[in-house]
Amino acid sequence: MIQIDKLRKVYRSRGRAVTAVDDVDLTVGEGEIFGVLGRSGAGKSTLLRCVNLLERPDSGRIEVDGQDLLALSGGELRRARQRIGMIHQHFGLLSSRTVAGNVAFPLEVMGVPRGERAARVAELLDLVGLTDHARAYPAQISGGQKQRVGIARALAGRPKVLLSDEATSALDPETTASILELLRDLNRRLGLTVLLITHEMDVVKRICDGAAIMRDGRFVESGPVRDLLLRPGSELARDLFPLPAPDPRPGTTVADVTFEGDSADRPFVSSLARTYAIDVNILGGAVEEVGGTRVGRLRVELPGDPETNAAQLAHLRDAGLTVEVHGRSEVEAAR
Ligand SMILES: Nc1ncnc2c1ncn2[C@@H]1O[C@H](COP(=O)(O)OP(=O)(O)OP(=O)(O)O)[C@@H](O)[C@H]1O
Ligand SMILES: [Mg+2]
Repeated sequence: MIQIDKLRKVYRSRGRAVTAVDDVDLTVGEGEIFGVLGRSGAGKSTLLRCVNLLERPDSGRIEVDGQDLLALSGGELRRARQRIGMIHQHFGLLSSRTVAGNVAFPLEVMGVPRGERAARVAELLDLVGLTDHARAYPAQISGGQKQRVGIARALAGRPKVLLSDEATSALDPETTASILELLRDLNRRLGLTVLLITHEMDVVKRICDGAAIMRDGRFVESGPVRDLLLRPGSELARDLFPLPAPDPRPGTTVADVTFEGDSADRPFVSSLARTYAIDVNILGGAVEEVGGTRVGRLRVELPGDPETNAAQLAHLRDAGLTVEVHGRSEVEAAR
């Protein structure tokens, strides 16, 4: 649904050039929710604004719903943009208009006849659960409700794609959860493809199918969330399961064991201890619900150097667990 190839955007001002987006490739399949995580200034908003050409990239290709956006004429681009909704951190509502009036606004701009507008507004407000607040003004509703208005407004043109720029970062955790649930629900009911940017790991954990970590304009990691969590050395996994820097004692093996789904229910620690008659020390870990499955990471310590634990480590891997060994001996690291 969204296909981006080698996207690059450079800002130039007063002789200085900032490469905000640097050679980014991104594919978001139809009906997927993809999250881009990154610190302030990483280039997330710039990337998002390129997807509907609010920002013109210096080079690269942007395809949305089969259309090469950079090849479209003015009128074609305007129509294509109507199929791409966008929501923002600070909602951007018109304070002089009611909730219904705010949702009607894009319909007016699109030239939807007055007679059809009221029915469409009612339908949109129902979708986001705001029917009872149609006549309220933005100052009279909560932040979460304001974002619901923002979402209803973004859906006015029956978009296939929704772009979200930190839509929940001005909200408290409970309200954030309800907005994420709404996005997930709309994604399922309308087949909406969502590209969102966030700095909250929780957002990725709750609703994203795929994710990327962006730094200095580049994607340093990208893929299905599940794959990233199981990949040794993944930054996403490290953020989700924060563990202190490993500091193996001499004569021990410290390993991070990641498990998900079925393998989460098997008692691998006791099985390991029993099979090899060893003491397994648990140094830390966490279990999280990610995209509806249980994913966990446990740091364990085994007696003996990694070389002496080859069978034990294979035992864990054979059980379908992802195993990352810390503090390998120099001999093994050099291999
Ligand atoms: N209009 C602009 N003119 C010049 N430089 C810009 C412009 N917009 C963004 N930049 C620069 O591009 C880089 C990326 O900015 P961007 O807003 O995309 O980051 P971000 O990841 O969205 O950050 P935040 O999390 O703070 O919103 C930054 O270095 C920023 O200063
Ligand atoms: Mg931003």
